Amino acid sequence: MRPLSPTAAVLITGASSGIGRAAAERLASHGFRVFGASRRPPSSVPSGVRDQWIVMDVRDEAQARAGVSGVVAQAGGLDAVVCAAGYAVFGSVEDLPSRRRAPRWRPTSSAR
Ligand SMILES: NC(=O)c1ccc[n+]([C@@H]2O[C@H](COP(=O)([O-])OP(=O)(O)OC[C@H]3O[C@@H](n4cnc5c(N)ncnc54)[C@H](OP(=O)(O)O)[C@@H]3O)[C@@H](O)[C@H]2O)c1
Repeated sequence: MRPLSPTAAVLITGASSGIGRAAAERLASHGFRVFGASRRPPSSVPSGVRDQWIVMDVRDEAQARAGVSGVVAQAGGLDAVVCAAGYAVFGSVEDLPSRRRAPRWRPTSSAR
């Protein structure tokens, strides 16, 4: 695998908070062109990240396609995606009702 160019365009899902936000700020600080995405734009865009926030729910294929297309249109391509969108549900898998299991796994597994 070739290393990414230092100016590669990177889309980060779940970039408004937590791991995604930290990854966005770290990659932006190294010069990558970082595009953040989440269902709701953050009140403050992570430091160094593009102002054009990508609003999308990764469980919705049409929204995900539109979000990726938006990055490609702005950056002229897309070099990497960090899939950090998701949320935690506490408890063992066996104890969770199936209606709570599926939505948990879908955000991280559907953004390819
Ligand atoms: N923090 C940890 O120590 C840790 C450790 C291991 C694994 N994880 C896992 O890593 C994932 C992220 O954890 P975190 O601590 O960074 O969580 P977090 O702070 O709650 O951030 C979750 C991010 O994902 C976005 N998001 C959630 N559902 C989404 C969806 N359907 N489509 C698009 N964006 C969505 C949220 O923004 P919106 O709500 O606006 O969409 C937010 O930006 C979770 O699945 C968590 O279980 C976390």
